[in-house]
Amino acid sequence: MLEVKSISKRYSKRHVLDNFSMTAERGEIVGLVGENGAGKSTLLKILASLSKPDKGELCLNGKTYKKHFKEHRRTIGYVPQDIAVWEDLTVLENMKFFARLSPVKKSVSELKDLLDNIQLGRYGTKVNKLSGGMKRKLNLAISLINEPEFLLLDEPTAGIDLKSRIEIGQFLKNLAVNKETLIIYTSHDMNEIKDVCDRVIVIGKDSFYRDLLADYIK
Ligand SMILES: Nc1ncnc2c1ncn2[C@@H]1O[C@H](COP(=O)(O)OP(=O)(O)OP(=O)(O)O)[C@@H](O)[C@H]1O
Ligand SMILES: [Mg+2]
Repeated sequence: MLEVKSISKRYSKRHVLDNFSMTAERGEIVGLVGENGAGKSTLLKILASLSKPDKGELCLNGKTYKKHFKEHRRTIGYVPQDIAVWEDLTVLENMKFFARLSPVKKSVSELKDLLDNIQLGRYGTKVNKLSGGMKRKLNLAISLINEPEFLLLDEPTAGIDLKSRIEIGQFLKNLAVNKETLIIYTSHDMNEIKDVCDRVIVIGKDSFYRDLLADYIK
């Protein structure tokens, strides 16, 4: 279980998160929505333990981030909004590189299965020859190598074609059901959010998304 207790974060004078709290359980898919600059990526970075809040506390499975962040990092998968892969390596070489850093060991055929699951079969293609959407898929596949209990996805489907988006949505739903993965996920596509997420959290003060998604805020 994830517990976020009254966290605040500001950059110089700009308050991005102000006493923000939430909880989430394993097996849930929670959508994080809000206008540009509302603080979604900031929150995901904090949840991924890559950034610290100025105040407040976070706990995963009853253990605070402060004391147990190394342990938590092993169980967290994170796909940043900006694609982070090696451009000069092939798809499979990227997977092998990140697999070496993972606490969960994976064979080459298991790495290929992960790529197949998200319809990225171009194992031998150099990343700098892939389209933007394909790079995003590779980022997602990399985040799954360590079999995360807790998966944080920052606009994982931006620029991905509709067919692949639907397939990825289905893949994430299966992951939540079969592996009880807790998935927190941002997107600017409200149809996708409604289709994939069990519930929605709105970040920021603007009431637009709260009104639009009233039925999904639980
Ligand atoms: N490292 C930083 N230093 C200073 N300000 C930052 C930094 N990172 C984010 N910000 C600011 O914090 C606010 C929230 O940014 P954030 O990236 O979390 O928004 P977002 O909700 O993810 O937006 P988007 O939908 O555009 O991705 C913005 O005003 C942004 O300019
Ligand atoms: Mg963002």
